[in-house]
Amino acid sequence: MTTTNKNIIIAIDGYSSSGKSSMARALAHSIGYRYIDTGAMYRAVTLYAMRHSMISNGIVATEELSSALSSIKVDFKVVGDKQHTLLNGEDVEDEIRELAVSNNVSQVAAIPAVRHHLVAIQQSLGNEKGIVMDGRDIGTTVFPNAELKIFVNASAETRAQRRFKELTEKGTTTTYQEVLDNIKQRDHIDETREESPLRKAADAVMLDNSQMTIEVQNARLLELYHTTLEHLN
Ligand code: DC
Repeated sequence: MTTTNKNIIIAIDGYSSSGKSSMARALAHSIGYRYIDTGAMYRAVTLYAMRHSMISNGIVATEELSSALSSIKVDFKVVGDKQHTLLNGEDVEDEIRELAVSNNVSQVAAIPAVRHHLVAIQQSLGNEKGIVMDGRDIGTTVFPNAELKIFVNASAETRAQRRFKELTEKGTTTTYQEVLDNIKQRDHIDETREESPLRKAADAVMLDNSQMTIEVQNARLLELYHTTLEHLN
């Protein structure tokens, strides 16, 4: 009898602030997999572009950024039970979550050269499987053959409330309306960009968590993981 290698790739895609990162992290933790937040990678490249004055009034100097990509190294390190994002070795975990970065990241993520650069890194991280990766195009572009694909959604208002709470708890001064506008604008850019637009893969399981508690959501993910393994055997 052949034995199945039980390490699989789990792709979790979905809208901004749908809670997919928390659920992907919790799932990875409970099954002993590595977790990769690809949004953090786009945010780190955005921070680099902002620091090097390559973004002005929401307009990105595409050619300049594209030719700088070989000198932008994005990596992760584990701090306690959290994964921190490193930009050329510097821990930028807090800075990449700020609204200034959020306001520019969709424009940067729409640049084909940026996507090719980061997708290649993401694919190499998945070489050994045993990984939970979250983003927008993981099930469609990065790992079209992932054994388990999940597409997460919640209403824009629910997502804005969650994000607003998160930001105010961190001491960021903003309004619910500003956060909601940012989310809607990002949804629009993510869904309509030419390169790898945000789209549910045909074989992804849809999970709308607007009305779900975190516990129910985590249990559902674990169940999907176990069912996937059973089908591989
Ligand atoms: O998940 P997040 O909000 O941290 O993602 C930040 C931005 O990066 C978001 O506007 C969409 C983009 N993104 C992407 O285009 N592809 C990914 N795989 C991950 C994120």
